[in-house]
Amino acid sequence: MPVVALIGAQWGDEGKGHLIDLLASQARLVVRYGGGNNAGHTVVNHLGTFKLHLVPSGIFDPQTVNIIGAGVVIDPEVLLGELKELEARGVSTARLFISERAHVIMPYHVQLDQLQEQDRGEGKIGTTGRGIGPAYADKMSRTGIRMADLLHEQTLLNRLRVVLEEKNRILTRLYGASPISLHDTYLRYLELGHQLGDHVTDTHAIVQRALEKDLPILLEGAQGALLDVDYGTYPYVTSSPPGAAGACQGAGIGPTRLNAVIGVAKAYATRVGAGPFPTEIDGPAADTLRQIGTPWAEVGTTTGRLRRVGWFDAVMARYAAQLNGVDTLAITKLDVLDTLPTIKVCTGYRLNDAQLEYPPATVAVLEQVEPIYEELPGWMTPTTGVRRFHELPEAAQAYVARLCQLVGARLGLVSVGPGRDQVITVAEIF
Ligand code: GDP
Ligand code: IMO
Ligand code: MG
Repeated sequence: MPVVALIGAQWGDEGKGHLIDLLASQARLVVRYGGGNNAGHTVVNHLGTFKLHLVPSGIFDPQTVNIIGAGVVIDPEVLLGELKELEARGVSTARLFISERAHVIMPYHVQLDQLQEQDRGEGKIGTTGRGIGPAYADKMSRTGIRMADLLHEQTLLNRLRVVLEEKNRILTRLYGASPISLHDTYLRYLELGHQLGDHVTDTHAIVQRALEKDLPILLEGAQGALLDVDYGTYPYVTSSPPGAAGACQGAGIGPTRLNAVIGVAKAYATRVGAGPFPTEIDGPAADTLRQIGTPWAEVGTTTGRLRRVGWFDAVMARYAAQLNGVDTLAITKLDVLDTLPTIKVCTGYRLNDAQLEYPPATVAVLEQVEPIYEELPGWMTPTTGVRRFHELPEAAQAYVARLCQLVGARLGLVSVGPGRDQVITVAEIF
């Protein structure tokens, strides 16, 4: 199966980076197709523990070419910092290419993201404050600055002059903030473009060549399907399409070329930031799911915020699978459930006297639904050392099988720990 998209099937942080790191050795190309440094992808392998925000998680495989596609929004300072750290730790970044069509997160995007959040007060989204929303908004308004613009002095100056006039009016008149200097910004971003210049190219040519040769290509998702700007829990979403359609658009690959879509889901559920979360829990069971004190504790990779936790929500996961054509499920963090005597799974929502099959579109309504739970027996046995599916405790096998049945996808991978060797392959991906 040459072209595989791996997407988050929940609200992000499902363990996508972990699985991409493993699968990258089977692919010739890994393309990160969307989002920006709101993402935090943790990779634990023989080289150490890495937290990637923009660099694709295939970077550790010396044979694999990594691409940051046109659908990504790039903060050049963050990307340079990440490249520097990787190089310092012995990871070559020579095979990383950045689409010249990718949009740039500028300082005013970050500032506006934070100011807008302050203004929202009670209704704040809980964004990562990295400028993601404003950068995508500018792209759609056709006032964005792209990577290619950083390499072309006159274009950068012309575009910045127009854009900054508008941004400075907003910053000073609406928010009472200081204006941003055209001169300083121009020089700074020209310099950043210069530093990244060797990586910036027409990635379309690389992707097309790989497609023509039927080389295995892995599309790396960021965020999760329930944060999708169209189909997620709007307005508590991110500003991009993190699913399979976004994969095609952001990587520049037509949908007819996609062979498989892997939906990654934790064996339970988490969410960072505000917004509806029907199966959210608190108390001792929540503490178990949070795994505080472990390196994989439910603390946001990007912002350090404590993640909200809850039971697996099959209504949401099935909805995510349907929207994205998920044919293969990867269940991560099964080991986190190892000590629980019983585990709940939400199989439906009740609203007044009705039973709902799909999540309602409106947040106010979604917040009123009552999850219908099925309770499954736990296995009370450590699974972190298990490497074959049939060696998992029977109750763990049954739990995972039930999740797949409810979601409507075959099982592909099960992860029982953060390490590269802690993934059980049930069905070959490539
Ligand atoms: P991503 O954004 O989807 O790449 O996921 P994150 O890296 O933000 O969050 C996933 C966290 O869970 C990271 O700390 C991973 O190291 C960790 N992790 C991934 N898979 C497993 C697993 O199977 N078991 C455990 N215990 N931790 C895992
Ligand atoms: P990865 O790739 C978890 C959430 C934020 C917030 C909402 C909007 O690591 O899975 P934004 O900054 O995008 O405007 O914030 O989306 N969010 C994520 N949550 N994992 C992510 O990425 C996320 N990226 C954005 O917490 O609720
Ligand atoms: Mg993450």
